[in-house]
Amino acid sequence: MSIYILGVESSCDDTSAAVLEGTTILSNVIASQKVHAEYGGVVPELASRAHQQNIIPVVDTALKRAKIHKNQISAIAYTNGPGLLGSLLVGSSFSKAMAFSLNVPLIEVDHLQAHVLANFLDKNGEKRDKPDFPFLCLTVSGGHTLLLRVHDHFDMEILGRTIDDAAGEAFDKGAKILGLPYPGGPVIDKLAHEGDPKRFPFAIAHLPGLDYSFSGLKTSFLYFVRDQLRLQPNFIEENLADLAASLQYAIIKSLTNKVERVLKTTRGEDLVISGGVSANSGLRAAMQQLADKYHRRLFVPTIDLTTDNAAMVAVCGYFKFLKNEFSTIQAAPYSAARTSL
Ligand code: KG4
Ligand code: ZN
Repeated sequence: MSIYILGVESSCDDTSAAVLEGTTILSNVIASQKVHAEYGGVVPELASRAHQQNIIPVVDTALKRAKIHKNQISAIAYTNGPGLLGSLLVGSSFSKAMAFSLNVPLIEVDHLQAHVLANFLDKNGEKRDKPDFPFLCLTVSGGHTLLLRVHDHFDMEILGRTIDDAAGEAFDKGAKILGLPYPGGPVIDKLAHEGDPKRFPFAIAHLPGLDYSFSGLKTSFLYFVRDQLRLQPNFIEENLADLAASLQYAIIKSLTNKVERVLKTTRGEDLVISGGVSANSGLRAAMQQLADKYHRRLFVPTIDLTTDNAAMVAVCGYFKFLKNEFSTIQAAPYSAARTSL
């Protein structure tokens, strides 16, 4: 008998609902909140209000697109953290109420595990190859930067993490300094195609071990642009593509340096990337180069599954469903990332 999981994601500024049959996506509806663009970043209170407006139509559309009646749902999986508390409360309260009314199990999902397991989704009736456990996974998003050894679906060892800004934040803050809209990552990515990545050398942190740091890069970028603007008021306009390419180069280099360090000391493990920043074309190319150099298979989610979406939440739900790992109505959302995954 088919297992249909409804997934609900509302941890930040995307309201999303998805329906899976097993690991196959039947629908994945994402309402991105435009309201934050004019503020240059996510405004938590506005995000909660927008989730509240979006959640019912988004879930309704996901069920319709999947051609599934709500009575066919086997379980509801929702993001319980980490994220913005007000935003999480909208998705979690909705999911609890719906599961209660349909009398189906409720499954809580960790957003970071969901990003990793996005690599286990299938779509358009095609079964994709999946990474073998254990694999090495770089999870890079607007809020998190993690280097993980994934032993099993729900056993993820943290090898390294950022001690300050996340990789996505480095893109977004750099873009803001250049006067570009939020989120800056995709804009920088596009501009970087036309620019010279070696034109301006920005600080690449060299922390011991496998942790990351991006605050030094942000500061060096800010001071450099500010100083150049004093000399040349049109500096940004005249050098935009090179600035974007050089910033992107420094972020990617910081990320791949640590990945390479692990690849040097291990053999054979698959290489995986996930999270919003894994949409970056430069990062994808750099990781492919590393995979080729160290004879590894590289797994990357399709672009639509890199940024926040409910299909990745639902696939976590599916694997938990198989293990009968259900949660109760008491499960409280959490805002900070867990110390272990
Ligand atoms: O995973 P995600 O949707 O949300 C979080 O869980 O944080 O990631 C959003 C982040 C933003 O910082 C955005 O700028 C970045 O992913 N991003 C990109 C690209 N597409 C999205 N960064 C670099 N290049 C991209 N193409
Ligand atoms: Zn995310």
